[in-house]
Amino acid sequence: MVATATPSLIEDIRRLKQERNALILAHNYQTRDIQEIADFVGDSLGLAYKAKETNADVIAFCGVHFMAETAKIVNPTKTVILPDRDAGCSLEQSCPGPQLESFLKANAEKNYYVIAYINCSGHVKALSDCICTSGNAVKIVEAAPKDRPILFVPDQNLGSWVMEQTGRKMDLWKGSCYVHVEFTRDSIQAIKDEYPDAKVVAHPECTYAVRMLADEVCSTEKMVGYCKNSDSNTFIIVTESGMLHRLEREVPNKRFIPGPTGHCACADCRYMKLNTLQKLRDALRDLTPQVEMPEDLRARAEKPILRMLELSR
Ligand code: 13P
Ligand code: SF4
Repeated sequence: MVATATPSLIEDIRRLKQERNALILAHNYQTRDIQEIADFVGDSLGLAYKAKETNADVIAFCGVHFMAETAKIVNPTKTVILPDRDAGCSLEQSCPGPQLESFLKANAEKNYYVIAYINCSGHVKALSDCICTSGNAVKIVEAAPKDRPILFVPDQNLGSWVMEQTGRKMDLWKGSCYVHVEFTRDSIQAIKDEYPDAKVVAHPECTYAVRMLADEVCSTEKMVGYCKNSDSNTFIIVTESGMLHRLEREVPNKRFIPGPTGHCACADCRYMKLNTLQKLRDALRDLTPQVEMPEDLRARAEKPILRMLELSR
């Protein structure tokens, strides 16, 4: 079908949303037009709560696959659609379920308490004791049993940041986010030199060298609160580019300098940016692509997510 002009596209989406009794959820990294039409825009944690609490019949999840899958896991009777079925995540890919399963079998004597960053597959969630997001990882690690070693999967950068914050030693899976590891110390320093009064706000998926330059390291949602409440008027935002729309909308009186896109040309997450308004309209119209998973896997993956939601209230 040929894409229609944006005003009628938006009308189509609004009409289909009513007809389907759908809730549109969007991650902070989605494009401006998607963020503007969504019922709720937030980080992985906020989106998981919204997905769990909704009474809508359909959840249209504008984000990446693991986020939509989490929505299905916590609210299985709902129809969950994702505008582009190829919207994956490099972190999810860096920890395949079968590989984690073999690792845990080979190291059974360690009796690991497995904490999985939510950026992972349903299979990995099902193998875990507790899930965390960047917004609650410190809390979740602090709440972990003291008498068992922790295996933290799949993001080594978030994991090492949490170790710095909590002092708790963990074994780290060697995964990473291809977007955040491309920011370098030199490229951030160059922007800092240009804007010496600006505060640097970085996502914990960034490397240690970049985090060292940051005034604040936090989840995408916490970036909004930090920038609102800070005395500073200018911020260098070291994360995916979609975050700038959210910040400019909610903190309109301040200035946001994007991370060094000119240096590494990578601040767009290619997976997040697969979603478009046209694909959202088509997904609402056709109710496809849908997220589905076998019930036994879903039920196993739900437990560690519910534990996380309970712990981070
Ligand atoms: P947040 O939960 O902080 O929004 O992060 C999700 C993500 O994919 C970061 O790359
Ligand atoms: Fe995954 Fe990185 Fe994209 Fe976030 S920005 S969805 S961690 S690839």
